[in-house]
Amino acid sequence: MKSILVALLLGFMLLFSGCIQPQDSPVAVEKRATEVWKADGSVGDGEYTHSMLLQSSARQGYSGGEMVVSWRNDQEYLYLAMNGSTDGWLAIGFEPLEWMKDADMILASVQNGKTVALDEYCTGNYGPHVEDTMLGGTDDIMEFAGSQKAGRTVIELKRKLDTGDKFDKQFSPGQAISVIWALADSPDPSFKHNVAYGEAIMTLSGGQTALAEAAGTGSVASAATLSERESNGLLFIWEEEKMARDLYTALYEKQSDPIFSDLAKSEQSHMDQARAIMDEYGLLIPEKDEQGVFENQTLQKIYNELLARGNASNEDALKAAATFEEISIIDLKKELYATQVEDVKAMYQGLLAGSQKHLRSYVRDLEDRNVKYDPQYLDRDEFEGIVKVK
Ligand code: HEM
Repeated sequence: MKSILVALLLGFMLLFSGCIQPQDSPVAVEKRATEVWKADGSVGDGEYTHSMLLQSSARQGYSGGEMVVSWRNDQEYLYLAMNGSTDGWLAIGFEPLEWMKDADMILASVQNGKTVALDEYCTGNYGPHVEDTMLGGTDDIMEFAGSQKAGRTVIELKRKLDTGDKFDKQFSPGQAISVIWALADSPDPSFKHNVAYGEAIMTLSGGQTALAEAAGTGSVASAATLSERESNGLLFIWEEEKMARDLYTALYEKQSDPIFSDLAKSEQSHMDQARAIMDEYGLLIPEKDEQGVFENQTLQKIYNELLARGNASNEDALKAAATFEEISIIDLKKELYATQVEDVKAMYQGLLAGSQKHLRSYVRDLEDRNVKYDPQYLDRDEFEGIVKVK
């Protein structure tokens, strides 16, 4: 009974604070390709239909860097370019189950003028990732080329949407693919990322996506200014990611379950990603970063409530964390819907992919304890779609 009352109270607070307002998913916008695709290590202005700038600032163990991912597809093939701020390897991973686990990866580098592009699969949360051929699969990168200049590496490649290899994720036109990315300053594939890493969502052409004719739509250019709505949204999301980090840190202190310390680390990376964009637009974030203290009073109340629930037992902590991830998914979608600025959208999409992964992790941990988690805020179909990813 008590838990029902608490759920009702939380729901009431969220609905009436404007923290949760279910919205339609944002429409993916794309531009027309005006050039023939060619694997030559050079990204032409009209060669791809989509681009996004992925960035991550310097922090412990990482020098900070960015990668522009460009892509186009038809009914059969995916054409992809990665242009990253490194002389070492750059990589993209499709549809990880949790951290890096089960991601279908492409890891590439250019060394002494020779380009290497590996079709890999990651079998564990923090590796190892090995070539598909070593697992009994096939190398499905059909064409590739790279170039290197002034501290940047560019890789272009082509693969089938559906390669038929069980170590490659299958794609279909119109699909939104969750991706992870990483850069290292060494071309050695066994060397851990030390420049940058993050998450994003790539939407393929076809299906429901709109085709915008205007040149430049969907480009990686930043807008000079943000509206007040967009600025407030960024500040809100930064503080909501801080709430996640602080909640998981406090739950780890109480329950000692390593999932909370691992995911607190991931939330710190989400805060850094939001901060990098806020710095770019000259937005100020609160000077103090005191654990468990928030300027937004709605977030403060949700934090207090979820922490009180999570302190009861390890199982309650996992449930409270899953509930937080549901709230985060709804808020991120709301902010995505409210902005058309490409680099802000790309950052939100990365955080959204991260929140979906985290929700999956908590729900699976509960399932491992034979506890069923029922969605508290997400529509059941959406929830099932997130947690059932194979
Ligand atoms: C030798 C290769 C690699 C090693 C040893 C490695 C190891 C790790 C470790 C230990 C973490 C936890 C965070 C940290 O300690 O910094 C991590 C996180 C991560 N790695 Fe890797 N990694 C490797 C390759 C890759 C590649 C190729 C990608 C991208 C395709 C990638 C993407 C990520 C992402 C996105 C995270 C954060 C996951 C999250 O917070 O949910 N890693 N990796």
